[in-house]
Amino acid sequence: MENEQFIHQILEILKKEISQIKDIDSLLDRILFEARKFTASDAGSLFLVEGTKLKFSYVQNDSLFKDLTFNKHLYSSQEMEIDDKSIAGYVALTGQTLQIEDVYDLGPDEPYSFNSTYDLASSYRTRSMLVVPLRTGENKIVGVIQLINTLQSDQTPGIYSQQHRLMAELFADQAAIAIERAKMTRAIILRMIKMAELRDPKETGAHVNRVGAYSIEIYHQWARTRNIPEKDIKYFLDTLRIAAMLHDVGKVAISDTILKKPGKLTQEEYELMKWHTVAGHELFRDPTSDLDSMAADIALTHHEKWDGTGYPGHIKQDKENPGAASQGKKGERIPLAGRIVALADVYDALISKRCYKDAWPEEKVLSHIQEQSGFHFDPSLVEAFFSIYEVIKAIRDKYADPETG
Ligand code: C2E
Ligand code: SIN
Ligand code: SIN
Ligand code: FE
Ligand code: FE
Repeated sequence: MENEQFIHQILEILKKEISQIKDIDSLLDRILFEARKFTASDAGSLFLVEGTKLKFSYVQNDSLFKDLTFNKHLYSSQEMEIDDKSIAGYVALTGQTLQIEDVYDLGPDEPYSFNSTYDLASSYRTRSMLVVPLRTGENKIVGVIQLINTLQSDQTPGIYSQQHRLMAELFADQAAIAIERAKMTRAIILRMIKMAELRDPKETGAHVNRVGAYSIEIYHQWARTRNIPEKDIKYFLDTLRIAAMLHDVGKVAISDTILKKPGKLTQEEYELMKWHTVAGHELFRDPTSDLDSMAADIALTHHEKWDGTGYPGHIKQDKENPGAASQGKKGERIPLAGRIVALADVYDALISKRCYKDAWPEEKVLSHIQEQSGFHFDPSLVEAFFSIYEVIKAIRDKYADPETG
């Protein structure tokens, strides 16, 4: 069967490509995009199994999301039970593919029903669906891909074919394996961050997640106003999120008395604290991957300032007196990734409560960032930050600090 051979060739290529993606969110984005492409689907969502729940992890919709601010939907964290009541839940529970002609016209014997909340909220009309389980080699179901409204060549909605189904199922098997692998990479990195956290209780996992997410959104907006090819953007984003999450791991090298000090640091203590940039850079020296070299750049330069008054500058490795060692780097001499994390990190530090400071009111934070444009921060990044501020706020809500006490 020539057709089948062709399908396998395409899948081989896709398998190679997706197996190189390290960041789980970039991976989900790509999996959903490719599955939609070969099934000509107007929309789709991806759900991941987390514990006993199915989590709404990614959504794409060509008809609805032409408007940029819809990115915030990426961060809506909805979940449903893994049971036969919802369409996606049914597929996760039974491992069976569903191929539906019209979700508003389900057979009377089906246990599941269509949840029309999103259609009602957006005046989108969901019709046909192809819903496949993401199953690993060990027969474990890690999630569900839900493809919506396949379009015919005249762009009107049609129904999914047997060939769509075959391809989607084969692709889903590869995708599930890549997802397992990306989850493992993420788990290892999270352990690294945890180690840093154990040393420094005020750096929370939530802070790290927020800085990673703010950073990629600032970059994405900045890049799209600059005619950077989408392929390069995606590649940078994939590396940036993880590297940004690692910005402060160098704090493992700072002594407890300084790290855990509840009040203000003395000048002398502050000078030693500055060493965390150089220490973080050391951890990723001799880079073997783009991720390592970006992580090294960010660790080293996330406290540099656009006007050259930041630290540590051009490092002389003088642990006793790192801040005074030399002048800060300036402007575009500071790597882009470092400039981005500088903004994301300070925004998050000011808007949150820390053991040494209260949270600032939002207006004060925003006017500080505006005032520091061209001084602390790269003005073009400040501009990008404000133009996607809705997305920034959605991230803040998604990764809110856990309630304490
Ligand atoms: P961090 O808490 O993540 O803060 C990151 C950056 O946000 C700071 O870098 C600074 O640029 C900005 N920032 C934080 N709080 C304020 C504030 O109240 N006012 C202003 N204008 N900016 C603020 P910086 O200053 O280089 O500090 C690096 C790290 O050193 C901080 O990371 C924190 O872990 C530690 N640190 C700084 N000052 C103190 C302090 O007085 N007491 C303690 N215990 N730790 C401090
Ligand atoms: C959803 O899109 O969140 C639910 C659709 C369904 O499976 O009923
Ligand atoms: C997007 O923001 O448009 C996609 C998610 C990402 O930035 O990686
Ligand atoms: Fe830092
Ligand atoms: Fe930080």
